Amino acid sequence: MRWLLLTIVAVTTAVVLGFVVVYLLSELRLRDREPVHQFSAAIPSDAESIERGRHIARTRGCFGCHGQQLQGYDFDKQWDWPKRAVAPNLASYARTHDAQTIEAAVRQGIGADGRELMSMPSFNFARLRDDDLAALIAYLRAAPVVEVPLPRPALGWDVRWDIASGRELSMADWVEMVPPLRIDPAEQPILAEGEYLAMTMCNECHGLDLRGERFYSGWDGGPPTPDLAMVVAYDRTQFEELIESGYSLDGRKLGLMALVAPDRFASLSDSEVDSLHQYLQSLATTPAPEAFWRP
Ligand code: HEC
Ligand code: HEC
Repeated sequence: MRWLLLTIVAVTTAVVLGFVVVYLLSELRLRDREPVHQFSAAIPSDAESIERGRHIARTRGCFGCHGQQLQGYDFDKQWDWPKRAVAPNLASYARTHDAQTIEAAVRQGIGADGRELMSMPSFNFARLRDDDLAALIAYLRAAPVVEVPLPRPALGWDVRWDIASGRELSMADWVEMVPPLRIDPAEQPILAEGEYLAMTMCNECHGLDLRGERFYSGWDGGPPTPDLAMVVAYDRTQFEELIESGYSLDGRKLGLMALVAPDRFASLSDSEVDSLHQYLQSLATTPAPEAFWRP
């Protein structure tokens, strides 16, 4: 009887200790990167900048995840990942946090509480220009606040285990791997603009370097996303149809792309579509470098 009791106590203690270790290790990993506070651009307040900020929010997908009224969104119904992801109310967040804190979340993948984000695709915004980010913040602060109740986010034990063991990377880890912009706007303004747009819109799903990746296939059961050098097969009109609809030349629905394209990319201006098209076509002249995110 006594041995049985002792065994039960020992096993329970070991299990509890195991959970404590996983919890602490995952929390340590989530805090192993410090935000660098160097963002000092002035936040504008004129109507033109606020409109520019709205355009950035629209084309970069803030509305798609944070709600069409920026009211926040509970992903519980869509994703089991990372147990419960909750995108906060951006209009109120922008009013209660300073610009450097917002910058750290958006471009560095580190939240206001100092923990690295897990679901917010900051790697897609890492290369946002200072002036565009300032305009975005101006817009978020000017947008009306729509209050809806949101639950608390939660990290599941399976995800904590993967973080603790180093198998699951945080957004801040992904941000570190985003390649720099290579084209000089002073020399090739159109191509540079296209590179900027692609590297802050399309690299969310087409690989950090736009040359294809395999992770998105796991999300909705679709194939890996293709190397965007394939845009060489699309003329300007076909390309615009593709990014406004999310359907390919031959009428195939392109998974997640079809979900986000009408919401985000239909708002691009003609000159933005031109630069994006020209830049992506230019990729066909260089082979895709090797990367672990490719199939
Ligand atoms: C794919 C969905 C998605 C997109 C697109 C997205 N977010 Fe988020 N965002 C989230 C989620 C989910 C969170 C909650 C933190 C987490 O789970 O990573 C979040 C958190 C945040 C936070 C708070 C970070 C903190 O905890 O302090 C800010 C600020 C933010 N997002 C701004 C933006 C802006 C600005 C845009 C557009 C440029 C944007 N987000 C686009 C999903 C998204
Ligand atoms: C939210 C994820 C997501 C974003 C953001 C995204 N795509 Fe896609 N894209 C996909 C998926 C998924 C596919 C289809 C994979 C499949 O089913 O073959 C795809 C397919 C494509 C294709 C292949 C069409 C064909 O003929 O097969 C092109 C070209 C493309 N995307 C261009 C873009 C461009 C340009 C951008 C940025 C403006 C972009 N995508 C942004 C997810 C995305």
